[in-house]
Amino acid sequence: MSEGISKHLFLPKGSGLGLKDGKLDKNTFKKVIPVLAAKVAPEKAGVLLKSPVMKRYSDQADLSPEVLDFLKSQSAELVSHPIEFGYDYWTADDIIHAILPEELEAGAPSGFANVGHIAHLNLRPEYLPYKHIIGQVILDKNPTCRTVVNKLDNIDNQFRVFRMELLAGEPDFVVTQFKREDVVADVFAGVGPFAIPAAKKGCAVLANDLNPSSYKYLTMNIAENRVDSLVRAFCEDGRAFIRNAFNRAYDDPLPPPPQPKPRRSELKEMRAPDTPPLPPAPRRQRINHFVMNLPDTAILFLDAFRGVLAPENAGGRDLSGLYDAASMPMVHCHCFTRELELAKAEADIRQRVEEKLGHTVGEETSFHWVRSVAPQKEMYCVSFRLPHAAAFATS
Ligand SMILES: C[S@@+](CC[C@H](N)C(=O)[O-])C[C@H]1O[C@@H](n2cnc3c(N)ncnc32)[C@H](O)[C@@H]1O
Repeated sequence: MSEGISKHLFLPKGSGLGLKDGKLDKNTFKKVIPVLAAKVAPEKAGVLLKSPVMKRYSDQADLSPEVLDFLKSQSAELVSHPIEFGYDYWTADDIIHAILPEELEAGAPSGFANVGHIAHLNLRPEYLPYKHIIGQVILDKNPTCRTVVNKLDNIDNQFRVFRMELLAGEPDFVVTQFKREDVVADVFAGVGPFAIPAAKKGCAVLANDLNPSSYKYLTMNIAENRVDSLVRAFCEDGRAFIRNAFNRAYDDPLPPPPQPKPRRSELKEMRAPDTPPLPPAPRRQRINHFVMNLPDTAILFLDAFRGVLAPENAGGRDLSGLYDAASMPMVHCHCFTRELELAKAEADIRQRVEEKLGHTVGEETSFHWVRSVAPQKEMYCVSFRLPHAAAFATS
C-alpha cells in the first residue's frame, strides 16, 4: 500500500541547505519519509497490489472500513515503513535551488553547454561565490561529464592564459574525439581556449583568428603555456585559412607529439645496453580535424573546402596519397538552427552543410546539441568527414 509521499518530497528552495563551512554537505539532503505499508505473506502480495479496493492513503485513519476488512481477510498487518531519499535521489536543479540563498534562487543557473565530457557554464557574477558547489552538483548528476568549467567572458591584459576556469572534475579540457597524434586546424580559434589544451595533450594545431586582438592574445597564450613548438598561429579570414591549411601542413610538416615519459618498468629496459633507441616519430603532414566555432556563420565558410585538395589549388602537390576517402579530416562546425525538434534540426543543418559543400555528407555525420540560446534558437555542433569528392572536385 502506498502513502501520498509526493507531498513530503521536495527540498526547500532558497534555504542554504547543503552548505557546511562553504562546502557541499551531501548528508543534509537525506530525507526519511514514513510510508504506511501492509505486511503480507509473499504469495498474497499480488492480490493486494491488484485489488481495486486498495487506493492511495496517507494515513491509517483514512483507511475505509472496506479496506480494513479486505486487509484483515488477507491477514495483512499494517506497519510504518521508512523510505530514505538521499543526495542521489534529487535532481541537480533540486539541489542547486536548495543550496542558493533566497535572493539568488530565482535566476539559478540550470542549463549548461555540453561538449564531449566537458560542461561549460557561464555564471553571472552573483553566483560566483557558489561556483565550485554548482560545478560539483553538475558533475555528480551527469554521468558522462568529467569536467565542469566556467567560461570567463572578459579578455583583458591580465587575462592571458585561459578563458575558462575549472570548477569541478578533471582538468582535461580536450574533448575525447582528438588523439594526441592528431593535427587540428582551428579556423576561429579566438584566444586559444581550444587550441592550447589540444596542444597540451600532444596535438599539433594550426590556430587562426581574423581579429588582430584575439590573435595577439592567442600568440601570448601559446608562449605562456609553452606550446610554441606545437601551435602555429595565423591571422587570416577563415576561408583563406582553410584554403591554405592543407598545403602548409604538407610543405612544413608539424612536429610529432612529444614522447610520453617512460614508465619505470620501461626505463629499466631502455637502460639495458643492447636496447636500440626508439625511432623518432614522423612529423605530421595530414590534418585530422577542422574546428569551426563561429556558430552564426561557420556553415557559410564550408564552400572553402570545395576543390581544396584538387591539383589546381594544391599548386602541383599531389595530396591524393595523403588523403583518401577514409582519412579525410573530420569537420566540427558549430551552428544555429530555428528548428526545435531534433530530427528537423538535423535535417535543416544537413541541408545547409551539403548545399555549401556541393556534396552529401556520409555516415560518419553526427549532430551534437550544444544548448538553447533563445526561445527559437538552438546551437548545435555538426561533425562530418569531409567528402573526398568535394575536396578533390575540379572546377
Ligand atoms: C565564437 S568565437 C570562438 C572562439 C574560440 N574558438 C572559443 O571557442 O571560445 C569566434 C571567433 O571567430 C573569429 N572570427 C570571426 N570572423 C572570422 C573570420 N571571418 N575569419 C576568422 N576568424 C573570425 C572571432 O574573432 C572570434 O574570436
